[in-house]
Amino acid sequence: MASLPEKRGFVTHEIVANLKTKIIGRVIQSYDIVDSTNIIASELATRGAEEGTVVLAKMQKEGKGRLDREWFSPKGGLWFSIILRPDIKPSEATKLTLMAGVAVARTLRSLHNLDAKIKWPNDVLIEDKKVCGILTEVRSFENKIEYVILGIGINASFDLEDLPKEISDISTTLKHELGRDTALDELLMALLTQFDKCYEILRGGKSNRILKSWRELSATLGRGVKISTLKETIEGIALDVDDIGALIVKTNDDKEQKFLTGDCVHVSKTS
Ligand code: BTN
Repeated sequence: MASLPEKRGFVTHEIVANLKTKIIGRVIQSYDIVDSTNIIASELATRGAEEGTVVLAKMQKEGKGRLDREWFSPKGGLWFSIILRPDIKPSEATKLTLMAGVAVARTLRSLHNLDAKIKWPNDVLIEDKKVCGILTEVRSFENKIEYVILGIGINASFDLEDLPKEISDISTTLKHELGRDTALDELLMALLTQFDKCYEILRGGKSNRILKSWRELSATLGRGVKISTLKETIEGIALDVDDIGALIVKTNDDKEQKFLTGDCVHVSKTS
């Protein structure tokens, strides 16, 4: 089994002491620099780490994005992963991804009064620029989830120029939006509190409430979209998400198609 880097990072004992959550963030493992918090969380989950454990780093050298993309993770961002052990089928794991988007968008709205919205499947946007990405990784065995790693990356307290040009054009940071630095410990506490609330709802079998919030916060529904999967690329109008979070699209040749994964680009401004 791989050895873990030396822990340091944020002052987490204060955060843990002040957190009023039931499950999320009761244990926080904090590092200065890691390859990827998702990799460490996965390692810890394999060793039996308890549900809700959070792995946090000031910087990532090899941050992982969706679809095997690199995720730039300079100092000043909030890069963390949460270990979950939900009692649901692997096919339902997309619900957790939707929940994460809802938790982040709600937090940015309540803490910073920002008009945060969710692009399917799960980017959080401000004025159509990406401020947060979410990577959900599921480990299952014989149709049972062993653990899920929810990796959350928030472009928080750094300048847009710290990102490569090709990304800075389509991204934003909280510092850019707010015109000032943002306190990462306060943001983390608010996020973990919101995650805990949302997870409690899901565990209570009320995922329809999370889906309702997702729809209300969606930047995608009603818009023209281009969806690319390994098999095909289609264009159409995003109509809705189904019970497990698949996007329902009315294609330009008038058919309804569902997508559980894929890359989504908004091709029209509004509905
Ligand atoms: C995406 O939009 O492509 C998903 C990006 C997810 C990035 C976060 S940062 C914390 C966690 N650790 C990783 O290596 N990736 C996720």
